[in-house]
Amino acid sequence: MSNVLQLTGQHSDCAAMNTPHKLLVKCAENVVCVCSRGEKWLSGPAMNKISMIERGSVVVGWDGNIEAVGPADDIAQRFPDASCARVIDATGMCVLPGLVDCHTHPVWEGDRVHEFSMKLAGVNYLDIHRAGGGIHYTMQHTRAAKQEQLLHSLRTRLFAMLRAGSTLVECKTGYGLDLDTEIRMLRTIDRARWDDRPAVHVTYCGAHAVPRGYLVSEYTREIVEKHLPTVVRLMHQGEVHVDSVDVFCEQGVFGLEETRTILRAGKHLGLRLNFHGDELHPTGAAELAAELGAHAVSHLEEVSKDGISALVTSGCVAILLPTTAFMLRLKQPPARTMIDTGVIVALGSDFNPNAYCLAMPVVMHLACVNLHFTMAEALVAATINAAHALGCSHRHGSIEQGKRGDLLIVKASRWEHLIYQLGCHADIIPYVVCKGDVLENRCPSYNAAF
Ligand code: NIG
Ligand code: FE
Repeated sequence: MSNVLQLTGQHSDCAAMNTPHKLLVKCAENVVCVCSRGEKWLSGPAMNKISMIERGSVVVGWDGNIEAVGPADDIAQRFPDASCARVIDATGMCVLPGLVDCHTHPVWEGDRVHEFSMKLAGVNYLDIHRAGGGIHYTMQHTRAAKQEQLLHSLRTRLFAMLRAGSTLVECKTGYGLDLDTEIRMLRTIDRARWDDRPAVHVTYCGAHAVPRGYLVSEYTREIVEKHLPTVVRLMHQGEVHVDSVDVFCEQGVFGLEETRTILRAGKHLGLRLNFHGDELHPTGAAELAAELGAHAVSHLEEVSKDGISALVTSGCVAILLPTTAFMLRLKQPPARTMIDTGVIVALGSDFNPNAYCLAMPVVMHLACVNLHFTMAEALVAATINAAHALGCSHRHGSIEQGKRGDLLIVKASRWEHLIYQLGCHADIIPYVVCKGDVLENRCPSYNAAF
């Protein structure tokens, strides 16, 4: 665990007996609830009408869930300081829901800093992939890695995400590309769950690339006939946990037909569908997502007009990943058109060895500058809509009674500083609250540090 931040939960039975409530965060300048009427997502103009309480407080119970949120004076009457094991005075600060990162690839060894310099010099992502680099390079290192090393790297990354405010994170497999290593990745994710801090949503991405020596048709058959049934059997035996299935649908990787075959098989086995599409070429992935009833489709830099209409009609979430277009200097996805036509839009970091970013506040900043989101839209896309993309918006994504007590405290009187101060999340977030436990920055100043 970092020496700068420390998780200070109050688990003791003694404290629980003496105080009816776990945490009170009081007198915040603004509590930015995002939703207040149990909405599962927000789209169109509603993204700019987020719910807020001026001078508000939040109470979290011993079960880790929000017990109350409201004006500070009301909460003070119902929940005196002495009734709460921990009290944070948020005067001059803002409280936001924990952020949700709904697209990440965090289980791997084999970084690709050498390829970053090649890409900066103009070499194309798919050319590197075809030459055996990219995902293939990381796969070799992941296959060779010891389980303890994979676990250590994953834990370190999840902790960094938590420090930057993400309290629910999607984790994909996809650097094994053989059943044994993919299952090892699933077991690693299970071991890394730290009492669900952050909460984790697991996506099986065995179809992330076609391993060398295979035809795409052969590997597709292997995923359908061997990978998915085995993974689901292990899940029913309680050995691993999987929520969704993913495919990298792209020209020269998995075509539309193979993607359809894999996703149909996954759906048949009870998995949610959440896949990569329309990133480097327009392939009709958004239309396929609508056809199959997918919950989410990611990237969409090259989505067609028909694809956008299909997303609106089907209610499939568009997960946009501003880091990828930024790092690969791709054309930006048509985010404004999607939001204005009513697509449910979410944001993810896409953390992976190609796009190395663990911090959703940076992603939100890029969404505003490069994708023309408003700051309110970016917050909605990184909270309630991202939670909805993972089927978790009944538990995550807003500050409402009964949801998980996951909060960010932002050291500024306007919440927008979280987005405005690019790369300053370590300073601007003094506390991240997860299930009512507090991850705190222990060095508030230079003098305190030395
Ligand atoms: O979402 N596009 C496919 N998957 C990742 C990249 C993975 C990698 O390059 O290692 C993405 O950008
Ligand atoms: Fe990805």
